[in-house]
Amino acid sequence: EWTMETFIDDTVHDLRRNIGDQKVLCALSGGVDSSVVAALIHRAIGDQLTCVFVDHGLLREGEADSVMRTFADHFQMNVVKVDAQKRFLDKLSGVTDPERKRKIIGNEFIRVFEEEAEKLTQHQFLAQGTLYTDVVESGTDTAQTIKSHHNVGGLPEDMQMDLVEPVNTLFKDEVRKVGEELGLPREIVWRQPFPGPGLGIRVIGEVTEEKLAMVRKSDAILREEIGKAGLDQEIWQYFTALPDFKSVGVMGDSRTYAYTVGIRAVTSVDGMTADWARIPYEVLEHISNRIVNEVDGVNRVVYDITSKPPATIEWE
Ligand code: XMP
Repeated sequence: EWTMETFIDDTVHDLRRNIGDQKVLCALSGGVDSSVVAALIHRAIGDQLTCVFVDHGLLREGEADSVMRTFADHFQMNVVKVDAQKRFLDKLSGVTDPERKRKIIGNEFIRVFEEEAEKLTQHQFLAQGTLYTDVVESGTDTAQTIKSHHNVGGLPEDMQMDLVEPVNTLFKDEVRKVGEELGLPREIVWRQPFPGPGLGIRVIGEVTEEKLAMVRKSDAILREEIGKAGLDQEIWQYFTALPDFKSVGVMGDSRTYAYTVGIRAVTSVDGMTADWARIPYEVLEHISNRIVNEVDGVNRVVYDITSKPPATIEWE
C-alpha cells in the first residue's frame, strides 16, 4: 500500500543506494517541486548535496530570503546563492517582446547555473523536480506552444551528469504532501503557481528596476490583503501586473502622470482554463487605496475581468 511515509522511506533508501558517496547538485528555485526534491535528497545524503539558488531579481517580495531561511538556516543545507539581478537586468535592457524576454531569462538562467556547476566539478548527479505529468507530457509533445514555458527542466543535455528525479512518479498534490511530511514551510508547499520568468513577464514591455519595484510592492500588498480577507484558498492565483503606460491623475492639488497597476485573480483547476475571481468590492477598494498610497509611481488600479480563454492568466 502506498503511503507518504513508505514513499519517503523507500525513496531515501534508493537514493542512498544509487548515489553512494558521490555528490549531487540541485537547482533550487523556491518552487514546491525543486524544494521537495532538495529536502528528500538532503534527508538521504545530507552534505553530499549542494543546492544552487539563482536569484535573478525577478522573484516576489521576501521570496529569496524565505528560500535561504528555509534551506540554508533551517535545514542547514549547502546552498550557493548567486546574486545575478544585474546580469538579468542588463540582458533584458531594451527588450519588449514577451517571447524574447522569456527566452532571454530562460537562457540566462541556464548560463548562470552552468557557470556555478563548473565550479563544483566533483558533482556526479544533477537533481531535477520532474513530475509524473512532465514525464507524460514530454512523451506526446504535439501541443502547440502558446507561451514557451521556462522551468529548470530545460537544463543542457551536454552536462556530464546523471539525472536524479525522485518525484517523477508523483502528481503535484502528492509532492505537496511529501513536502509537508518533510517539514517544509506552508509558504513553500502551498505556493501558488509562479512562472519561471517571474516578475519579468509581469512588467509589460521593457523590464527596469523601477518597474520591478512597482510590481513587487503592489503584489505584496495584494497578497497580504487577499490573505487577510481569507480568500487565499478559493482564489487559485492572484498577482499584479504593470502595463507599459502612464495616465493622468490628481493627488492633493496637483496633477499626476503615473503608472497603472493591473490586478489579476483567477479561479482554476489546472491553469488550462480560468475564470476571474469575484473578489468583494470592499476588498478590492481597500487593495486599490493601499496600492495607490503606498506604491511610488502608481496613480491608478484596474481589475482584470477576462476569463481564459480568450485571455491567458499571465499578461505576457
Ligand atoms: P497562462 O498565462 O499561459 O498561464 O494562462 C498558465 C499557468 O502557467 C503559469 N506560467 C508558467 N509557469 N513557467 C512556468 O513554470 C512559465 O514560463 C510560465 N508561464 C506561465 C501561469 O502562472 C499560470 O499558472
